[in-house]
Amino acid sequence: MIGVVPEHRGQGLGGLVLMAGLSYLQGRGIEIVELTVDSENREALALYKSVGFRKRSSTIWYEKPLD
Ligand SMILES: CC(C)(COP(=O)(O)OP(=O)(O)OC[C@H]1O[C@@H](n2cnc3c(N)ncnc32)[C@H](O)[C@@H]1OP(=O)(O)O)[C@@H](O)C(=O)NCCC(=O)NCCS
Repeated sequence: MIGVVPEHRGQGLGGLVLMAGLSYLQGRGIEIVELTVDSENREALALYKSVGFRKRSSTIWYEKPLD
């Protein structure tokens, strides 16, 4: 999971961190990278798509309060 503190978002830092991580994994011989992201996380979805990630599957999380 990556994150940039709110006051420094939108300046390219998240993209740099993501690319550094992918570069590290590639250097270790990793050929495929998988990640999960909330389908309502607009910024993260755009970031991952912008570097070439494509949706493979989706998961629905259920919850039920026990009152
Ligand atoms: C997702 C996150 C890491 C992006 O960090 P960031 O430093 O703002 O991202 P960047 O400035 O490097 O932007 C890279 C790309 O992300 C996308 N993006 C970032 N902010 C966006 C926004 N507000 N709206 C739409 N797209 C956005 C764009 O595709 C952008 O590329 P572009 O600038 O060429 O259009 C940041 O929003 C964050 O920390 N969010 C909270 C934590 C989180 O949800 N992490 C991911 C968990 S899976």
